[in-house]
Amino acid sequence: MGDSKYPMSERSFDKYSKERISSGVNGLDEMLGGGFPQGHIIVAIGGSGTGKTTLALHYILDGLIKGESGLYISIEEEKESLISAANAYGWDIENYISDHKLAILKLDLSDVKTTARRVKSELPELIRSFGAKRLVIDSITLFSMMFDDAIERRIRIFGLNSAIKKAGITALYTAEVNVDNPYYSKDGMIEYSADGVLFLQQNESEKNIRLIMRVIKMRKIQHDRLYRPYDITGKGLLVYPNEMVYTDYGKDNDSRE
Ligand SMILES: Nc1ncnc2c1ncn2[C@@H]1O[C@H](COP(=O)(O)OP(=O)(O)OP(=O)(O)O)[C@@H](O)[C@H]1O
Ligand SMILES: [Mg+2]
Repeated sequence: MGDSKYPMSERSFDKYSKERISSGVNGLDEMLGGGFPQGHIIVAIGGSGTGKTTLALHYILDGLIKGESGLYISIEEEKESLISAANAYGWDIENYISDHKLAILKLDLSDVKTTARRVKSELPELIRSFGAKRLVIDSITLFSMMFDDAIERRIRIFGLNSAIKKAGITALYTAEVNVDNPYYSKDGMIEYSADGVLFLQQNESEKNIRLIMRVIKMRKIQHDRLYRPYDITGKGLLVYPNEMVYTDYGKDNDSRE
């Protein structure tokens, strides 16, 4: 690590192939050649404490700073807990809530029927009336786990995705990793229906523990495919897009398409 074999700035990304929406994290934008393609559904899959919620807050806050309204659907954390997590990074999101630029919607997992109805009928309306440009669902794993039956789960996720596509909003989902097979999400399906997949991981070696991330897929654009280290600092995520994690990568090939 620290060896900059493939400096991101020297790569020729087709930055203009699609309008980009910043992830709110500089180094990640660099890995993507500018940010998330507008209108994409991106899922950030990661183990506990890898910074999924922090990334989601970065993404929403970046839009708010640029004057774009945002919707944050929280299935895990209470609204107050999210506000204080943001505060701890020095981000005051309460002002945006009072200015009706940000809405945090806490969904109740115990009431499947009401929650499913709210997501199906109220969400598209909320996106429209709010004029929201960015959406977060934290976490999509908990949303899909509300439904016991695998087929119903698929139908619900498909319905949600198509409502989001119709609304033209750019969405970031967080998802829990499958502990038995840590290269996949817990439900093993969301990565196939999403346009983009980010993978966040705590990498343990004998001598070190390091947070690393990788862009697994991002439809319609060229992107970095290598693992890159990142830290969770007092000011949020800090990604090192020019640092290598595995130095034997790229000896025989470029590892990218
Ligand atoms: N204000 C802060 N300053 C520095 N580090 C922080 C701060 N807040 C959180 N962290 C670090 O970030 C980690 C949690 O980040 P976050 O909640 O974004 O992860 P997550 O992947 O959403 O976790 P979960 O699996 O619980 O949903 C903490 O365990 C801590 O290491
Ligand atoms: Mg979280």
